[in-house]
Amino acid sequence: MDRKQNLYRNETFSFVNPWIRYFLFFFSFLFWAFSLLIVAIGVYAKVQKATDTVRDTFLIDPAVILIVVGVVMFFITFCGCIGALRENIHLLKTFSFTLTFVFLTQLAISIMGFFYSDQTRGALGKFVKKAIVHYRDDLDLQNLMDYIQKEFKCCGWNNYTDWSWNLYFNCTHENPSKERCAVPYSCCTPVPGETVVNTMCGFGVQTQKYLEANKLIFPVGCADKAVLWIESHLLLVGALALGLALPQIAGIVLSQILISQIQDEITSVL
Ligand SMILES: *[C@@H]1O[C@H](CO)[C@@H](O)[C@H](O)[C@H]1NC(C)=O
Ligand SMILES: *[C@@H]1O[C@H](CO)[C@@H](O)[C@H](O)[C@H]1NC(C)=O
Repeated sequence: MDRKQNLYRNETFSFVNPWIRYFLFFFSFLFWAFSLLIVAIGVYAKVQKATDTVRDTFLIDPAVILIVVGVVMFFITFCGCIGALRENIHLLKTFSFTLTFVFLTQLAISIMGFFYSDQTRGALGKFVKKAIVHYRDDLDLQNLMDYIQKEFKCCGWNNYTDWSWNLYFNCTHENPSKERCAVPYSCCTPVPGETVVNTMCGFGVQTQKYLEANKLIFPVGCADKAVLWIESHLLLVGALALGLALPQIAGIVLSQILISQIQDEITSVL
């Protein structure tokens, strides 16, 4: 083959599929932009937050988790984006490798969480206990607990007597609080036709037996309700897991294809 022919061939034929290349580019670009958004939300939450009870409750500040996840995602998607655009094998390999690592880590954590479900429940219980203890100290924790109890129609972690963990609701005789033996009104079953919420509906509930409490509040603890919720929403949980896994698997497969195509291209030119 003479030189002219060789050049001509390279101009019209390429081993690199432009569809795969541009798809990987746009796809990485989308998640790259998304990672900036995550970092921005994390930074905003960090700046807004005056007290540190939330951080103490969750061991690590949720805002810091957002920032770290965002920054890691930023670097990974940046490699995919520029790697695909410039057909850079080093960047594509970095992208593929780190994405595989992140994917396998998530998979391992999910599998452990599933097989060690008792430990998972115990760890979650610790968080909820701290949220109950600090319910009155931190508005975010208060909103979180109220949201969980209303949404899942539950009260406390094991049951409604867990509210004794909190100084204000503690049910010992010596407790001078006017909310002694109460539960927050987010535990209360809504009364049909009631326009103004009775914020005192949970008063004295902790002294009542299950069957009496049943009439006023959600008597089941949030731990049992969470298990029931997952069992009745298995399809949704599976779809969410797939929604998280599929883009990662697609990224890994597409970048591997692109890497091998670029390598074919390089050997054909040599
Ligand atoms: C609530 O849970 C605690 C601890 O699991 C248990 O000792 C208590 O008997 C329960 N109370 C009711 C009313 O179910
Ligand atoms: C309620 O307060 C008393 C006295 O401070 C304490 O001994 C008890 O452990 C508290 N109850 C719970 C469930 O934490």
